[in-house]
Amino acid sequence: MKGLIIVGSAKIGSHTTALAHFLKGHFEEHDFEAEIFDLAERPIHQLDVSGASNPSEDYKQNLQDLQSKAREADFFVLGTPNYHGSYSGILKNALDHLTMDDFKMKPVGLIGNSGGIVSSEPLSHLRLIVRTLLGIAVPTQIATHDTDYNKLDNGTLYLDNSEFQLRSKLFVDQIISFVKNSPYEHLK
Ligand SMILES: Cc1cc2nc3c(=O)[nH]c(=O)nc-3n(C[C@H](O)[C@H](O)[C@H](O)COP(=O)(O)O)c2cc1C
Repeated sequence: MKGLIIVGSAKIGSHTTALAHFLKGHFEEHDFEAEIFDLAERPIHQLDVSGASNPSEDYKQNLQDLQSKAREADFFVLGTPNYHGSYSGILKNALDHLTMDDFKMKPVGLIGNSGGIVSSEPLSHLRLIVRTLLGIAVPTQIATHDTDYNKLDNGTLYLDNSEFQLRSKLFVDQIISFVKNSPYEHLK
């Protein structure tokens, strides 16, 4: 079983990516592959159904990779920073490039990080999007704040809050339980 963790921060080395790495480690402890697709490192072009723009080959390749990995994924984690009280436009643009066929009846975990007042509202907004894509947003979600992270000597951020570390384990366990039990397999 393999999952795709899509991170929609504008910043390379974001807090959300640090959380994604923490979760990836837990998935792997359960022998579940979880690949991180960080949209800051691998940007894609804006959705353009008229073909008026001229995206670079790099962007086109990134999009192709995102789409094929999404199609193959057994589950998703969607990660977003809090931007203006909601999820990022970067993540929304990525989701606009995907379809119900990618998400239908697949478990989806939601994670986010705020730099100001900590908020789970971006995740509530994402929950609606996931429902529209026919995915199953699992009940446990993770909404952190910048202060829940610390930096290694090389500047890499890591999750440094024991409560969120525990919650992350429960979050991963819950997604795995949904994947293993596949309650809606027959509806795919
Ligand atoms: C366009 C933009 C809008 C933002 N709006 C909010 C906001 O409404 N509330 C908040 O708490 N932080 C806001 N922030 C701050 C981010 O949440 C903060 O930079 C956070 O560290 C981002 O997480 P990341 O490192 O995972 O990208 C905003 C940042 C940007 C760039």
